[in-house]
Amino acid sequence: MSTQAGEASRAEGPTSRPDVHSYSNPDQVKVKHLDLELQVDFDAKVLTGTAVWTIERQAGAPADAPLILDTRNLTIEGIEEGLGNGAQADDFRAARYDLGKTDPIFGAPLTIRLQPGTRRVRIRYHTSPQASGLQWLDPAGTAGKKHPFLFSQSQAIHARSWVPIQDSPGVRFTYDARIRVPKGLVAVMAADTPHGQTKPEADGSFKFSMKQPIPSYLMALAVGDLAFKPLGPRTGVVAEPSMLAASAFEFADVEKMIDTVEKRFGPYRWGRYDILVLPPSFPFGGMENPKLTFATPTILAGDRSLVALIAHELAHSWSGNLVTNATWRDFWLNEGFTSYLEGRITEEIYGRELAEMDQVLALAKLKEDMKKLPAKEQILHIDLTGRDPDDGVTSVPYDKGALFIRTLEEAFGRERFDRFLKAYFDHFAFQSITTAQFVEYLKKNLLEKPIAEFKGQGKAAGLAATQFDPAGLAINLKSWIEEPGLPEHHSIPKSDKLDAIDRVAKGWIDGKLTTDELGGETWTTEEWIRFLESMPEHLSIDRMAELDRKFGLTRKGNAEIVNHWLVLAIRNHYTPADEKLESVLMTVGRRKFLVPLYTELKKTPEGLARAKAIFARAKAGYHPIAAESIGKLLGH
Ligand code: BES
Ligand code: ZN
Repeated sequence: MSTQAGEASRAEGPTSRPDVHSYSNPDQVKVKHLDLELQVDFDAKVLTGTAVWTIERQAGAPADAPLILDTRNLTIEGIEEGLGNGAQADDFRAARYDLGKTDPIFGAPLTIRLQPGTRRVRIRYHTSPQASGLQWLDPAGTAGKKHPFLFSQSQAIHARSWVPIQDSPGVRFTYDARIRVPKGLVAVMAADTPHGQTKPEADGSFKFSMKQPIPSYLMALAVGDLAFKPLGPRTGVVAEPSMLAASAFEFADVEKMIDTVEKRFGPYRWGRYDILVLPPSFPFGGMENPKLTFATPTILAGDRSLVALIAHELAHSWSGNLVTNATWRDFWLNEGFTSYLEGRITEEIYGRELAEMDQVLALAKLKEDMKKLPAKEQILHIDLTGRDPDDGVTSVPYDKGALFIRTLEEAFGRERFDRFLKAYFDHFAFQSITTAQFVEYLKKNLLEKPIAEFKGQGKAAGLAATQFDPAGLAINLKSWIEEPGLPEHHSIPKSDKLDAIDRVAKGWIDGKLTTDELGGETWTTEEWIRFLESMPEHLSIDRMAELDRKFGLTRKGNAEIVNHWLVLAIRNHYTPADEKLESVLMTVGRRKFLVPLYTELKKTPEGLARAKAIFARAKAGYHPIAAESIGKLLGH
């Protein structure tokens, strides 16, 4: 790594800035716009190119303040600074810079000395084949098996592994990009593209433009054999050609989903909304990359039963992409509000019963998870100093966060709460905010509004006035946001359908109901999950076989149900599911599915040996993030 300026470099993680996960100094010099040019090299598994940052010195910053960017595993080939606005080569001259020591989680700060008046900085660089934010797939990892595939996953702090960047959600910028790919392949980015999805320039390259300011974790790129199919006037799917029809069928309701949120919470401000269906190694269910949600193919159940995930990613277009967490300790603002909105979309389009079932399951899981989580990880406003922000991704920010929001909705009444939420999105649009900013806004615009303003809004408003005196609220807020566990008073979801499942499950376990009498043929995913989760610690092989024979669980097309079933299969040594288990572990890289399976395998010595053997073979096909989690889990 070249060092020109010989600055003192920090080896320890970045701890002194408001965002403890970034080395950058936006308080002094802030990036405003990026011009990115990248060449995609599948043979070397590297991206090579230039990043030109337009920067803005902040008021009060020392005249000699450098620009500090985050990097991780990047090779810097050269850096120039430019005084003018133009991108012409002769505008630029060599700059002094220093790449600091590398921290395994945070990477290395890139400190660039600036002449007074410097407006642009051009960095020539290439990525490492091990970049944590990229996955390079051989053709075997794709549906078509003929072409390689590349995708990025920047959240939380992996953008720095493919772009030198101020990698903090508190910093927003716009960008233009040009991506060069091997002939026959298509590049997509989470941005506008001048000729429409999958359409190249005359020279075969792909151009993109993101005009709304976004934080770094929403930078996204994918390259592969991709095709596009429109769904509605502003929606569509991008997928490998063989996946296109199934994807379009599954996501048919997405235009309706946008209308639903817009009606209550203000306009969709991103223009188009497309969905990219990735190969199965994608480590998450979905990622809310703006204008282009990235999604796992495991939600293609064939019956639209798993599209709540799309509702979730779409909802981030308001809670997250529009109003963003300023740091990763405010992550619950993103995921809590989004899980809440996901429920609202589900309720509107698929009915209250289904939405309630989801909430009952989420609360049950939250309570289970909290039994195992240390107290400090049960706090919404979590302290992640010195830790990988990916460690903060538990059901707490999602489901405790959503429960808090739902409790507010119940207390103040839906009508009033909806107005508050719409105004909140409006007020903070295209900003990144802290928990403290949210609390201040909440107090001023909902909690401490004069009681008179609640009058004339019916029963719900009256309830709010009596239940939430200002003093009681202060205590409540602290408990919700800063304390472990659940506050004494919270919204309690109820589902008659799931209660009924609890009864038949008990009847079946006690031998009072036969398998034929269960009624599972018509169960929703939620009901199946409830049923499978209420199975006792041990079931005989015969009983497992009975269920499988009747309902074809091992062969089911619904990946959520199959995953729950496979956990039971491992626990009860139900070998007819072995083949399916191996094929899931070998092809699916979604962490939510891998973790429970490996965790269950690990419980016995034979299981652990088997898990290690499978992992050794499967690892090359897993995303770096998933490989890391499973490696840790198996004690590698
Ligand atoms: N933004 C998250 C995914 C994420 C979070 C990636 C943190 C990296 C770090 C996304 O919106 C999400 O929550 N996805 C969930 C699905 C959702 C329905 C709960 C997932 O992938 O399982
Ligand atoms: Zn989310």
